[in-house]
Amino acid sequence: MEIKKAVFPVAGLGTRFLPATKVLPKEMLPLVDKPLVQYSVEEAISVGINQLILITGRGKRAIEDYFDRSFELEHILKERKMEDALKTITDISETAEFIFIRQKEPKGLGHAILCAKPVVEYEYFAVFLADDVIIGEKPAISFLLDVYKKYKFSVVALEEVTWDEVSRYGIVQVKEIEQDVYEIVDLIEKPTKDKAPSNLAIIGRYILSPKIFRCIERISSGVGGEIQLTDAMKLLLEEEPIYGVKYKGRRYDCGTIESFIKATVELALEHEKLGKDFRFFLEKLIQRR
Ligand code: UTP
Repeated sequence: MEIKKAVFPVAGLGTRFLPATKVLPKEMLPLVDKPLVQYSVEEAISVGINQLILITGRGKRAIEDYFDRSFELEHILKERKMEDALKTITDISETAEFIFIRQKEPKGLGHAILCAKPVVEYEYFAVFLADDVIIGEKPAISFLLDVYKKYKFSVVALEEVTWDEVSRYGIVQVKEIEQDVYEIVDLIEKPTKDKAPSNLAIIGRYILSPKIFRCIERISSGVGGEIQLTDAMKLLLEEEPIYGVKYKGRRYDCGTIESFIKATVELALEHEKLGKDFRFFLEKLIQRR
């Protein structure tokens, strides 16, 4: 029952980040010194999940190349004795197995996850939405793994959002069973404020039962004409329980420009080599304004 596989749906169009994402995949935008997608890939690897399935799409080739070996570059760095740089480009491709599947059309998150069915088949698996970069003492996914180990069913990450934000998320109705751990009673995708059963939103980390694939196959397009994962989870709930857990950490939805900038600032301040100088620069800059 150990989780060995993780799915990363990275086939979205990134329209909120145009024009930057016109030719460059959103997931490859650098957050300080690493592409956005690498943060959640490292989160998965840090808890021992090392079969990583990336659901890519048109215009996302750079992501495949990034996680592949680059023999020419490695050769040049070796010749120039640039050991540190060499390590940064080889480490990640050596620590995990990457599998790429193309979603032929961006038909929604549920549809993207269904693309992983031939590889995942009958196992419980994790899902990471790379846009949600979560900074904290413990990797966010570890909160879900703890609940999964105890209850042995699907688990989603939950966060309290403001009531004005509920219409941007999948929202849950819950029964609290332990501190910060909930049994999900109902789910609704992007409800209006008056239809939302709570302000607890599903955030981009999931542990899902393989039965979800059959549920996705049974649903038709939902909000925004997309195959919504939340609608499939509603069907799954008719068959088996789904749990939710509030994780501890600061989340940045890096699919929006504003949060992306905030994440850049926090990560730059925390950066081992750059942090001190950056803090000094920022303080001086603010004083001058
Ligand atoms: P979002 O709707 O938040 O991201 O999808 P997006 O579509 O990339 O961005 P905008 O809204 O146009 O700015 C949530 C996640 O699901 C993936 C996205 O890549 C993102 O990680 N996704 C979405 C797919 O893989 N395929 C899809 O068809 C839709």
